[in-house]
Amino acid sequence: MLRFAAAAEILETDFWVQYNELGGIPDAEVPGGTVNAKYRDALLVLDEDMDVYIHDNTDDEFTHQNFLNAYLVSKGAAPANFDPFRTLMGSTAPGVNTALIGKRLTNLTQLTLDTSWWTRYRDDSHNPDLDPNHTFPQIVPSLFVGQHTAIPRTDADTGDPNFLQAIANTAAFHFPTIEQGGNSLYPSMAQRATSREVLRILISIGPTETMHFQTWQDKAGNAPALTAVDPVTHVSVTFPDLSDGGELFQNNLIMPEPCPFLSRSLPPCSIIRPTETHGIAMGVVNFLTDMGLFIGQSPAFFALLNQLARAADHARHGR
Ligand SMILES: [Fe+2]
Ligand SMILES: [Fe+2]
Repeated sequence: MLRFAAAAEILETDFWVQYNELGGIPDAEVPGGTVNAKYRDALLVLDEDMDVYIHDNTDDEFTHQNFLNAYLVSKGAAPANFDPFRTLMGSTAPGVNTALIGKRLTNLTQLTLDTSWWTRYRDDSHNPDLDPNHTFPQIVPSLFVGQHTAIPRTDADTGDPNFLQAIANTAAFHFPTIEQGGNSLYPSMAQRATSREVLRILISIGPTETMHFQTWQDKAGNAPALTAVDPVTHVSVTFPDLSDGGELFQNNLIMPEPCPFLSRSLPPCSIIRPTETHGIAMGVVNFLTDMGLFIGQSPAFFALLNQLARAADHARHGR
């Protein structure tokens, strides 16, 4: 289980590094890149501290990745390693770490985002664990259709301020879309930890993902309403006005609504959801793959990722 967690953290670190190079604060703590000021300024429209949060989230992911792999090694187990797959192009826009062009693990330029977590946490009558067939509405339906870039791919992407804001808005919805996944992954895996120390690791890292998620869903709600068309792909995106719309949609209603938990015969409870443990690792792999995060990766990459997920989903005592 911890090797799968380490794998997920390596993948997370790879794309957070890309965000930090262009829109965060490259420094001694999180080195690489020199910032793309136009992209960073579009992110700052959502919150004046967006670059600080991007930096700190990136820093956290590095430590998750490094700790989990070091812990595995300290127990005589093999670490997760995706180095052979650092082959994707990534951005060539000014500000990127030029040494890593063509050496990315993840693809931030062709994302299809499921933003239904927004309404999932605001719905007081459905829980995906109890209602697996319920469809939670998307908060940004057009991000769930077609492929969208969350970073400027080239210098040309920073020329049109409206399109650049759409790119920054896409990133702002990608952040919580990712972190809510970690928010569910760790408690879901923790239920099968039989070592007290592994349990401690999982329930100590998991809530930091929750802290990320909560910060990011607050910021995403500040994304300015706009419509833009990608000049390269001609895909359109529309960010709606979220200033009202009631309990399911309104942008300041960021606390989780209570929902049914375990059984509808019990009173509603404010909780992380979903937390079903069965098949969680493969579920995360499918979620990330459907997102387009691995577009361009090789069959060997998917084989390794699937093998790690299968092993995690079958993990029992002593493994
Ligand atoms: Fe993490
Ligand atoms: Fe995370």
